[in-house]
Amino acid sequence: MASYIGTPASRIDGHAKVTGEAKYAAEFNVPGLAHASVVSSAIAKGSIARLDTSEAMRVEGVIDVLTWQNRPPMARADSAYRDDVGPEDGSPFRPLYDDKIMFSRQPIALVVAEEPEIARSAASLVRVDYNEDEHLTDLFRRGNKIVTLKAPAPPRGNPGKAYAASDVRHEAEYVIPIEHHNPMELFASTAIWDDGKLTVYDKTQGVQNVQRYLCNVFAMKPNEVRVVSLFVGGAFGAGLRPQFEAALVVLAARALKRSVRLVLTRQQMYGLSYRPATIERLALGAKRAGTLNAVMHEATAMTSKHEDYARDDTAWSGRLYKSASAAYSHRLAKLDVPSPGDMRAPGAATGVYALECAMDELAVALKLDPLELRYRVYSDRDQNNDVPFTSKQLRECYRQGAEAFGWDKRNPEPRAMRDGSELVGWGIATGIWDALQMKFTVRIALTANGHAEVACGTSDIGTGTYTIMAQVTADMLGLPLDSVTVKLGDSTLPQSQVEGGSWTAASVSHAIAAAADKIKKELLRLAKKAPDSPLRSVKVEEVTLVDGKLAGKRDARHFVSIADAMRSGAVDRVEMESSSDFKDDSSHARNTHSATFAEVKVDEELGVVRVTRVVNAVAAGRILNPKTASSQIMGSVVWGIGMALHEETLIDQAFGRIMNANFAEYHVPVNADVQEIKVIFVEEPDEIINPLGIKGVGEIGIVGVAAAIANAVYHATGKRVRDLPITLDKLMR
Ligand code: MOS
Repeated sequence: MASYIGTPASRIDGHAKVTGEAKYAAEFNVPGLAHASVVSSAIAKGSIARLDTSEAMRVEGVIDVLTWQNRPPMARADSAYRDDVGPEDGSPFRPLYDDKIMFSRQPIALVVAEEPEIARSAASLVRVDYNEDEHLTDLFRRGNKIVTLKAPAPPRGNPGKAYAASDVRHEAEYVIPIEHHNPMELFASTAIWDDGKLTVYDKTQGVQNVQRYLCNVFAMKPNEVRVVSLFVGGAFGAGLRPQFEAALVVLAARALKRSVRLVLTRQQMYGLSYRPATIERLALGAKRAGTLNAVMHEATAMTSKHEDYARDDTAWSGRLYKSASAAYSHRLAKLDVPSPGDMRAPGAATGVYALECAMDELAVALKLDPLELRYRVYSDRDQNNDVPFTSKQLRECYRQGAEAFGWDKRNPEPRAMRDGSELVGWGIATGIWDALQMKFTVRIALTANGHAEVACGTSDIGTGTYTIMAQVTADMLGLPLDSVTVKLGDSTLPQSQVEGGSWTAASVSHAIAAAADKIKKELLRLAKKAPDSPLRSVKVEEVTLVDGKLAGKRDARHFVSIADAMRSGAVDRVEMESSSDFKDDSSHARNTHSATFAEVKVDEELGVVRVTRVVNAVAAGRILNPKTASSQIMGSVVWGIGMALHEETLIDQAFGRIMNANFAEYHVPVNADVQEIKVIFVEEPDEIINPLGIKGVGEIGIVGVAAAIANAVYHATGKRVRDLPITLDKLMR
């Protein structure tokens, strides 16, 4: 049956995107649109003593300057500011709520003007006096107040004792700095005012999450706010929670009773969320033969004073490899900073980086090939919960990845491989991520001419959701791909969760399958109404939708076309809504896995590292679209290169303020940094996880990449740099 599922297909939204026809949040225009600009706090902690907006107000074209003192009402309770994915503990940030300053670059005033340039220029004329308090922004400062969270998984065995009794021990600290998402599209929101009702075009990964948030914060009824996000120019987690640009445009639109747009500057986006700096302490104890006795993983990450943001960094370590004993702990340092947030594979990208570097160091200590070590500690069970995996083809990832890379030609000695004047290093690392699935609702409308429209409130953050939704719908209804139209990114569509966690593909596909099944049933009911219907005595299980027809599975000569079925029933469309419904079943662990092989070349005199080759072999169940899925992995690998070698947000601790809030000084990989990347999807049939065997690929591709590169740098140079990014100064010291 499946003809589109599993087949490479170009993005159905690709044409709109490359021609500029695709409209992003800041590109919706209406007559009378006003433009807003944010004034940000220059201090990290304290309060606003005085805000003088008079000079800004005198600028021609300025309509108003909104502050905590003159803004329209906002909700008082914390609960109104909570959203689907924010931390449970703490108080969510409230923009322009009161005079408190909680972090540098906090929005403290909003200038609204007839033109964006006027707003921005006038924003520089708002005078602010602060009552400054002493701030704390340094994760590495001694004496930080540290909160210990509940361990992400229960300990097992006696790891302290087992570690002490081990033949070979490795213990070290690995550090990941703050990283910022830096999507191409700036965070922006356009609120269209229509007599008290608002349509908000927002850059977000979850229109319904933002819609509920706006309703709660501004005490509006659900039918008074609609949130739309048809295209997202990258987000990677920064757009999971409602960000302050959405609240601010609604605030301004309500104050002015007119349409307002706000586009944040690149610099202001450094006041949004980010991957928290994290210190990872790993202790691995092994037997001489290369088996693990003890795994101890402790993470200390930063969070804000107002919210306890944390994701699981540590429990991956004892789940991934076989070890009789394991213990985990996660601690938070509460600082005067905005709350951190999810960034591609949150927790795993950082925690597994540390684990995989530690495993490489252990392999060196054991004098074992690092790939061989991973085979020796391979686990077919999730030991944290003592259950099997729904599927785990990680062995195949190792095997196929090693073969494609040529791993067997590796000289194990560091500094032993060269290419002209450059040292060559080869490294490997394992990746693991969750295969999550959520309840999503989908509506399909099939018309008599054989055209289907499939609709869901989910987003497409660039991952290919439009395309896979069309593919799955086409297959389920037996239609050509171009007979399917996809509608998403609109809060008025059927409910979904935010697009995140790599759960969208599995969740939306099963909702489509369920809705298509209802359509099939209804068509059969209609088809039976025809006199002498060839399907009059068949059951629904005995028919399938194929080539625009409802046909007998056993004998395709018994069929009724969609058009004829609808004619018999005297209807011209059939519309059905259904939800994905996954069993909440803890009998199996659900994970994706990967093996990354990286080659680096290091200029010994300059310390310059180039990543010349990466092979990433991924086991992620059924791949719906190998083309868009490959792009997901490739993009993740590029980010892994950035994480390993370039990315680092630097705070000037004296001011509690980010120093490099721009693309010139916050380095991301550019074309010249990216060479050969090969993506392999190994076969991973999975009949347990869900009926279609889908796991999702949005995040697995980044997990382990930075470690594979760091391990390759060690192999090339003999130098172990444990704190990311591996910049040339660290290699030369
Ligand atoms: Mo992802 S960090 O769940 O957008």
